[in-house]
Amino acid sequence: MKGRYIPFFVCTLLLVIMISTAVIKPSPITIEIPQGWPQPTNNPFTKNILTEEGFQLGRKLFYDSRLSKDSTVSCASCHQQFSGFATFDHDVSHGINNGLTTRNAPGLLNLVWMSTYHWDGGITSLETQALSPLTAPNEMGETAEGAVAKIKSDPDYVKMFHAAFGSKKITEKRMLNALAQFTSTLVSGNSKYDKVMNGKATFHRVEERGYTVFKKHCATCHEEPLFTDNSFRNIGQPLNRFNDIGRMAITKNPKDSLLFRVPTLRNIQVTYPYMHDGSIFSVPQVIDHYRFLIDTTQPTLDPKLKSRINISDRERDELTYFLYTLTDSTFLNNKRFSRPHNIKETQPIHLH
Ligand code: HEC
Ligand code: HEC
Repeated sequence: MKGRYIPFFVCTLLLVIMISTAVIKPSPITIEIPQGWPQPTNNPFTKNILTEEGFQLGRKLFYDSRLSKDSTVSCASCHQQFSGFATFDHDVSHGINNGLTTRNAPGLLNLVWMSTYHWDGGITSLETQALSPLTAPNEMGETAEGAVAKIKSDPDYVKMFHAAFGSKKITEKRMLNALAQFTSTLVSGNSKYDKVMNGKATFHRVEERGYTVFKKHCATCHEEPLFTDNSFRNIGQPLNRFNDIGRMAITKNPKDSLLFRVPTLRNIQVTYPYMHDGSIFSVPQVIDHYRFLIDTTQPTLDPKLKSRINISDRERDELTYFLYTLTDSTFLNNKRFSRPHNIKETQPIHLH
């Protein structure tokens, strides 16, 4: 009698073994390139294959405050979606223990079209970038090992690492790769400006006039369609209270003193305050800097700005309206990039 059951048991056993060792195949995804844009310049995904599971894991990590030493600050504390992933209303960023950084948090968008990161271009890979805020004592103040140890204890992460990388091993490299998978997909290219360029909308005549001013005075550095040429320039602001010398801190070349990365102007309406130190609070004030406040005595000042920018009050307002057409509400409200349900809301950043 018993013998009759043996094949049944063997089959069941085989089935169980097959299911449990089945190769997990993450599903590859691609970065959507908006119409008319160039190919990304810094595609990190030759080895770190971009997948839906890796993206979802990176998204959870991005919103997880456990990545910081005292579990109060996540990447999203300083990079808020409604503000184009910049910090809304803060000149410089705030980290754990009310620590202050010396720079304004840039919006996170279209990162794979950038060849260097940070205001001074001190970082060249998106995958290693995350180590900088994670370990800086005035940002998240944690060690990579410390963060890994914490997330290892969450069974949800064990499942997610397995799904993203095919095994349950949680390592620093995998954590950083997943974060880069999330941040690299933050593409913003669906503003009114883009719709106009693709023939799907028209500018108001004020915006149209602003666009003409823009092309004449601003587009050489804030080059379309990304609104940056990724270069480093000095636009004649005074040395700030942190004595931030910009690009020179990286290259040690005095010619690079006070040069900062040309930032994108996409979503500029919501990413204020502006500049590397958040010293300017509104777009018209930024334009007034170019009109009246450029320090023309600085030896490294960009030659284009030697005689400041000569535009009228009316042109300044038209230019402002044009810049507001770069707001991409689809991006700012895209649920795919928002806090996932499997992570608690991070605490609001401390106000000073
Ligand atoms: C305490 C605030 C703070 C936290 C937390 C933080 N960042 Fe940032 N982030 C900044 C600041 C400030 C900069 C600019 C740094 C510089 O230029 O030196 C920046 C720059 C960046 C950049 C480069 C953007 C560019 O345009 O060059 C990326 C990418 C980024 N952060 C991702 C992350 C990720 C991922 C995390 C979480 C692991 C994180 N950040 C946590 C404040 C923060
Ligand atoms: C010579 C190159 C150059 C020209 C021309 C130029 N910019 Fe800039 N722009 C920069 C650089 C570099 C920065 C960053 C400076 C800093 O952080 O200290 C910047 C910053 C900005 C910012 C702040 C962005 C942010 O995220 O903080 C705005 C807004 C801006 N520029 C608008 C304009 C407008 C409008 C014009 C034309 C009137 C213009 N720029 C002309 C190089 C240029």
